[in-house]
Amino acid sequence: MFSQRNLWRKSLGSKPVLTQILRRTLFASTPSPSPSERPPVLPPFDHQPTPYNKMMADEILKKRKEFLGPSLFYYYQKPLNIVEGKMQYLYDESGKRYLDAFAGIVTVSCGHCHPDIVNAVVEQTKLLQHTTTIYLHHAIVEFAEALASKMPGNLKVVYFVNSGTEANELAMMMARLYTGNLNMIALRNAYHGGSAGTLGLTALHTWKYPIPQGEVHHVMNPNPYRGAFGSDASRYADEVKDHIAYATPGSVAGFIAETFQGVGGAAELAPGYLKLVYDIVHQAGGVCIADEVQSGFGRTGSHYWGFQTQGVIPDIVTMAKGIGNGLPLGAVVTTPEIAQVMSQRIQFNTFGGNPVCSAGGHAVLKVLDKENRQTHCADVGSHLVRRLKELQNKHEIIGDVRGRGLMLGVELVTDRKDKTPAKAETLILFEKLKDLGVLLGKGGLHGNVFRIKPPMCFSKEDADFLVDALDYAISTI
Ligand SMILES: Cc1ncc(COP(=O)(O)O)c(C=O)c1O
Repeated sequence: MFSQRNLWRKSLGSKPVLTQILRRTLFASTPSPSPSERPPVLPPFDHQPTPYNKMMADEILKKRKEFLGPSLFYYYQKPLNIVEGKMQYLYDESGKRYLDAFAGIVTVSCGHCHPDIVNAVVEQTKLLQHTTTIYLHHAIVEFAEALASKMPGNLKVVYFVNSGTEANELAMMMARLYTGNLNMIALRNAYHGGSAGTLGLTALHTWKYPIPQGEVHHVMNPNPYRGAFGSDASRYADEVKDHIAYATPGSVAGFIAETFQGVGGAAELAPGYLKLVYDIVHQAGGVCIADEVQSGFGRTGSHYWGFQTQGVIPDIVTMAKGIGNGLPLGAVVTTPEIAQVMSQRIQFNTFGGNPVCSAGGHAVLKVLDKENRQTHCADVGSHLVRRLKELQNKHEIIGDVRGRGLMLGVELVTDRKDKTPAKAETLILFEKLKDLGVLLGKGGLHGNVFRIKPPMCFSKEDADFLVDALDYAISTI
């Protein structure tokens, strides 16, 4: 895609001039904030990283350029060599500790190297790593049963795969086979994967290669902050009805949406939208797919699944990332009736439901319950949102603070009226925050949204540190 270095060159220009522009932008219509005197300090943490004596960052980067695909991109002008992780913290090659507020892109749900998950994986690995589903194994059915018990309605049948992309590929195929229709509806600003099929569902031009995109229609994104109809779900839903009537044969295979668009910048759908659209899609003969790759497993705090925040039960749910705390694992959960459609041919996935991943995934579910992580996300998340909103009152550059639980976004704009994306400023703050010890994610079509989606063990002290660091970074730019 794009190289981070090129992005820097393009967006920064000459630094002194830029700094002046930034100063003007940041403090244009607010009184100068009083910056903290000293940079904030990471909360104490009792862990001594193992001394690192392997390849250093410069050499890794050199070899990566030589031996890995040129489309790979990295964060930060000087990319970090992260060599160890413990719960919500990461350590680089020099032993410097960072607060991980992005969890390996919303993947490390329980915490880096959580002992229960490490133990489950190691114990299973010692006994048996792999056989495939041509033989029986207790781990896969135990995990499937535990996962099904977390689902509402008749969502009881699980297909295991290796990633979110694979899960969405399978879900789309099921929708088409089950309904006998081809047309899929997805939202603009969505990310559903990078394979040839799911690229069609994805609607962010930065990720879209110019290849055939399949029978996919992208309807308006019901984004309360930037959407044309604000939070008015019914007007966005009317547009879906209109789109089906004009741009499809009148019947569709399915509709897919993230309830909180992750890559798109932690954008929550307008309240009530999914209920209205699910009815419209069902009337058009389609099934409704919820992409829970980022928002599942209690991360939103108020509910276990993102779609529950909108009071709907999908026909198919896809999941990955947090399901495995870092293991390559994904799943599609659906009703027995829809699942049946795959049995007309052989459906097979070599690693899907592998004993090691199943043991690890099952351990994730147990840890999340044992440590009450959903309640914890609600508690810490509401504290963090409150503090971020206070910061928004102080700094004009913060255009929007949004999300729930530990699935949050902070959108930066150069002016609040036109909501012009603060692209260059975001990059500068991103670097500063890293230097201060905070690793965030970045998202949105213009890369001007900070994504805060840490491991779910992230504490209130971590939240305070993050906000203080953001305050300090903006104040001292
Ligand atoms: C919402 C969503 N769906 C699907 C995917 C694709 O998952 P994977 O990268 O595991 O293939 C992603 C990845 O970021 C995602 O955020």
